[in-house]
Amino acid sequence: MFRRKVTDSAEAATPSPEAQQGPRHVAVIMDGNGRWAQARGRPRLFGHHAGAKRVREIVNACPDLRVKYLTVFAFSTENWKRTQTEVAGLMSLFRRYISKETRALRDEGVRVRFIGDRMRLDAKLICLMDELETITEGNDRVHLTIALNYGSRDEVSRAIKHLAEDVAAGRLDPADVDEETLTKYLDTKVLPDPDLVIRTSGEARISNFLLWQSAYAEYEFVDTLWPDFTKDIFAGIVSGYGGRDRRFGGAKP
Ligand code: IPE
Ligand code: IPE
Ligand code: MG
Repeated sequence: MFRRKVTDSAEAATPSPEAQQGPRHVAVIMDGNGRWAQARGRPRLFGHHAGAKRVREIVNACPDLRVKYLTVFAFSTENWKRTQTEVAGLMSLFRRYISKETRALRDEGVRVRFIGDRMRLDAKLICLMDELETITEGNDRVHLTIALNYGSRDEVSRAIKHLAEDVAAGRLDPADVDEETLTKYLDTKVLPDPDLVIRTSGEARISNFLLWQSAYAEYEFVDTLWPDFTKDIFAGIVSGYGGRDRRFGGAKP
């Protein structure tokens, strides 16, 4: 119901030039792996493995769709609440995924970055993440950002802590603090704001993802579970974005 209403009103509006150019930065909340597995009578981790395989297909679809930045939500600061088996399985999946995909990502011109708090991750995983970032540093075809142990509130809290340290040390004058200042302390400091945020699995919520950065993003909630999310579905959503009217608080004369 909610999704239809959003889509209909966007379609009725006159597309804005910003939207007609297509989204430069798409962020995806990859949700529904657990339900996908459960529907097949399999453990949740089976769904996470199927979901991980989808990422490459969506990354590869980006250049043709002129999507320069793709950010995917892989593990939230709240996902530690899950069973030890699921969390350990996910951490092992991340290690295996990075090891297996590093060469292909490098060769396909993908620059990979991670956002989120690395402190709680194991040393081996952190090492693989650092290595992947370094190896792909010179790439510019697609910028893939993986949000791992990421939560917006956690990110903003960490940013404010660093900002306060700079004020206390005399490196920053509180009078100079504005929106741009805070942006520079966020994990996403080198990325443009998302133009389009997609969430799969039918849930119409943000779950602590890029709250500051998506203040003016367009949203698309689709019922498809993440392991079933194909490049054609992705392309359909990206092209639908072109018909939206982004006003950023302004009004047409
Ligand atoms: C998203 O799928 C992946 C992670 C949060 C790690 P879920 O595991 O949340 O799948 P559902 O929502 O339970 O189906
Ligand atoms: C959001 O999905 C996090 C990721 C996709 C990694 P969740 O499944 O954790 O979100 P909730 O619990 O449904 O809000
Ligand atoms: Mg979920």
